[in-house]
Amino acid sequence: KPRVLSGIQPTADSFHLGNYLGAVRQWVALQETHDAFYFIADMHAITVEHDPKLLRKRTRVSAAQLLALGLDPARTTLFVQSQVPEHAELGWVMQCLTGFGEAGRMTQFKDKSAKQGTVSVGLFTYPILQAADILVYRPEFVPVGEDQRQHLELTRDLAQRFNTRFGKTFPLPEPYILKDTAKIFDLQEPQAKMSKSASSPGGIVELLDDPKVSAKKIRSAVTDAEREIRYDVENKPGISNLLGIYSALTGRPVDALVADYDGKGYGDLKKDLAEVVAEFTGPVRDQVKSYLDDPAELDKTLAAGAQRAREVAAGTLARVYDRVGFLKG
Ligand code: TYM
Repeated sequence: KPRVLSGIQPTADSFHLGNYLGAVRQWVALQETHDAFYFIADMHAITVEHDPKLLRKRTRVSAAQLLALGLDPARTTLFVQSQVPEHAELGWVMQCLTGFGEAGRMTQFKDKSAKQGTVSVGLFTYPILQAADILVYRPEFVPVGEDQRQHLELTRDLAQRFNTRFGKTFPLPEPYILKDTAKIFDLQEPQAKMSKSASSPGGIVELLDDPKVSAKKIRSAVTDAEREIRYDVENKPGISNLLGIYSALTGRPVDALVADYDGKGYGDLKKDLAEVVAEFTGPVRDQVKSYLDDPAELDKTLAAGAQRAREVAAGTLARVYDRVGFLKG
């Protein structure tokens, strides 16, 4: 089976619809047909100031959400990044292959560092650790949202560079990005992506939100001064985003939705979408609660995943260390 690998940061109390539709939904689908490795990127979460207690809690909540959303630890290797030290170890080698200017061109770094008082070196080298996260499993595909595309390009460049200098070691991983859900937008600012770190609370629909809260956010979503429901990203970004989310959650094509809502108002669309969202998130919330009721079991699942992940990661790292000229230990 071809291998897939992806990760998500535990930087909020809940994943949002962008994380699910842009990434995690594909993770769940791909575990059927691929050798799947998915992880919670806790090492990336400390690149900005953080609270240790909150990080521990959010790491468990993230794991519970991934299980509730359909990842099956019997078929998928699900783990926490910090429990597989090979990520950091390969990360160092990759740092030594990355140009300073090359790292400085990462747009996510530029955006994030502009918002921080003090900017850590870790935030700067974050994309290089991400490259190591990926390459240490030598996957063929990396299912992510559009915002990760540049990091995947860096990953491919570094893989290529390593191969050229030290001999063919890494296959070049392909981004796996589905066009329709590659970028879910902020409800309040429908030209910006829905984001854990940048959106206002009203702009994101969280999976663990109370349905009443989500309904209110959807009702208050920014639209436009017209009344017609039509898909037009340029002129009607708000309505187009709502249609996109609706379509993704129900499987009904956008064209069919536009026909369904012919002659109806924005309020009708928003009310129905709130119901669709509540129907989807309700069972997820319940399941997350039950996973969190037994944190010891959850930790055990993650530890078993880390052990499996290490078997693969250690093999890659040993080859890399040998190729760069380190003595065998
Ligand atoms: P993170 O935690 O920000 O996001 C997790 C996944 O959700 C996708 N996503 C979106 N997709 C569509 N629309 C949106 N509004 C939206 N917001 C987020 C992201 O593209 C991502 O796929 N750097 C990564 C974590 C990471 C990683 C990796 C990913 C670390 N190492 C190795 C892949 C491979 C991140 O911060 O994702």
